[in-house]
Amino acid sequence: MTEASTEQDVVDILTTDHHEVLDLIQQIKRSSVAADRRDMADTVITELVRHSVAEEMYVYPAMRKHLQNGDEAVQHDVQEHKEIERTLKELEGVDGDSAQFDGLIAQLESILQDHISDEENEQFPELRASIPRAELVEMADKVNTAKKVAPTRPHPAAPNNQVFHKLVGPGVGLVDRLRDALSKRST
Ligand SMILES: [Fe+2]
Ligand SMILES: [Fe+2]
Repeated sequence: MTEASTEQDVVDILTTDHHEVLDLIQQIKRSSVAADRRDMADTVITELVRHSVAEEMYVYPAMRKHLQNGDEAVQHDVQEHKEIERTLKELEGVDGDSAQFDGLIAQLESILQDHISDEENEQFPELRASIPRAELVEMADKVNTAKKVAPTRPHPAAPNNQVFHKLVGPGVGLVDRLRDALSKRST
């Protein structure tokens, strides 16, 4: 038995993101200050776009490869990401004290609860069961880097890998180079 590692794996990172966003949504629902609600909604938009793009770039391909019915699960999840992004797009610029804002927050919460529950209860445990821990830790590193450079505005009509490559340029090994640059590691 090896020593228990304190390093976070990719599932830890993604699960923390989920709970931070759900917490923010609860704070939005509790707040009655329009400007605060608007600010928190902007944070939700940015964080969810980064998270979805990083998942699609580095986690969903692994799900496709390792999960039973991985292709179907990923197809379903990507469709839900687009549904989430459509909602986020509508939420952009809506006044924090309008009825439309409340409706969109409720809609977002409902889609997210379903999506997050599938990921955390079914897909992530399967990933952990089928991928060696060292690889899951490496994926955490890639996801963290991708989140730093990912788009922050929803693009509901375009595939997220295209959006990502358009923004940061194409190429295998790109994220490794970015990660080195971001951590100022010497090569
Ligand atoms: Fe997720
Ligand atoms: Fe997701």
